[in-house]
Amino acid sequence: MSLTEKIAELLAEAERAIAAAASAEALEALRVRYLGRKEGRLTAILRELAAVPAEERPAAGEAANRAKNRIAALLEEAAGRLAAPARAEAAVDRTLPGRRAWRGARHPVTQVIDEICTVLARLGFTRARGPEVETDWYNFVALNTPLDHPAADMHDTFYIGRGLLLRSHTSPVQIRTMQQYRPPIRILVPGMCYRRDAFDASHAPAFEQLEGLAVDEGISFVDLKATLAEFARGLFGSDIRVRFRPSFFPFTEPSAEVDVTCIICRGAGCRVCKGTGWIEIMGAGMVDPAVLETVGYDAERYTGFAFGMGPGRIAMVRYGIPDMRLLYEADHRFLEQFA
Ligand code: DAH
Repeated sequence: MSLTEKIAELLAEAERAIAAAASAEALEALRVRYLGRKEGRLTAILRELAAVPAEERPAAGEAANRAKNRIAALLEEAAGRLAAPARAEAAVDRTLPGRRAWRGARHPVTQVIDEICTVLARLGFTRARGPEVETDWYNFVALNTPLDHPAADMHDTFYIGRGLLLRSHTSPVQIRTMQQYRPPIRILVPGMCYRRDAFDASHAPAFEQLEGLAVDEGISFVDLKATLAEFARGLFGSDIRVRFRPSFFPFTEPSAEVDVTCIICRGAGCRVCKGTGWIEIMGAGMVDPAVLETVGYDAERYTGFAFGMGPGRIAMVRYGIPDMRLLYEADHRFLEQFA
């Protein structure tokens, strides 16, 4: 076999071996085996070159050089092929826990508002809205509350000047709605309200209220009680009852504070209801005829009831939230629990 043939055979063998190599270590062993300075097979062949007849020598030398370059190139290429997947592995660590995508959700207070609206939609209530910057006429006077009335003091709010203020309750939307529409009226008014209150565990200077108003011919206190009983059962469960205690609001007569069976202990008595089995949940009453007359309704023909509650407080009781400020901070660790 001529030296040129031996070189061709060696090259073919090296090509197969390199193609089959499965690791960087195996490649290094092949490099030593074929190209190694001392024991390398090609190196050995090059040494034989001296014994080759002169006329064969240039061709054999050229073949040996080409084989050497070819093997070196194949080794390099194979090294790249073996390293590539390793680099990909390093970039994506499949053992790490996946990253959760950010997902928005409705705020817990919004969830309570939406639920209440859903329950009362079954009784024909629709949503209404009104401005948060109000006139003192809508916020107080039209609601039968003269500006020097003590009830206006309790609602000390943020005065903007020239009779404008941030509304202290959602009740002015009763007036705006009645001015715009004729009875029958059944509305729910969710929205932000403002008071000059401390920002502490149980107060916020900006908070949500949810107002209800129904006006029609022949509406009585029985309709109010039945509506609120249905509201309590629909929102909290069929075992929940309502209780009315006499109270005062300038825009309702008679007026009541409304309690529901404690939704935590279901009436047995606990820390949340201070052992009474009841929690106060809203104010309510029959719309004062003076209010109906203010908007031009015939108070002999029409009667109505109204109620107002704080969905933030309801959310606090329902979810055991100890501090109202949590509702008004954008802390994801808190909010994510309601997603
Ligand atoms: N507006 C009252 C408040 O903010 C809540 C309220 C009580 C609203 C009785 C009503 C109602 O509609 O009938 O304290």
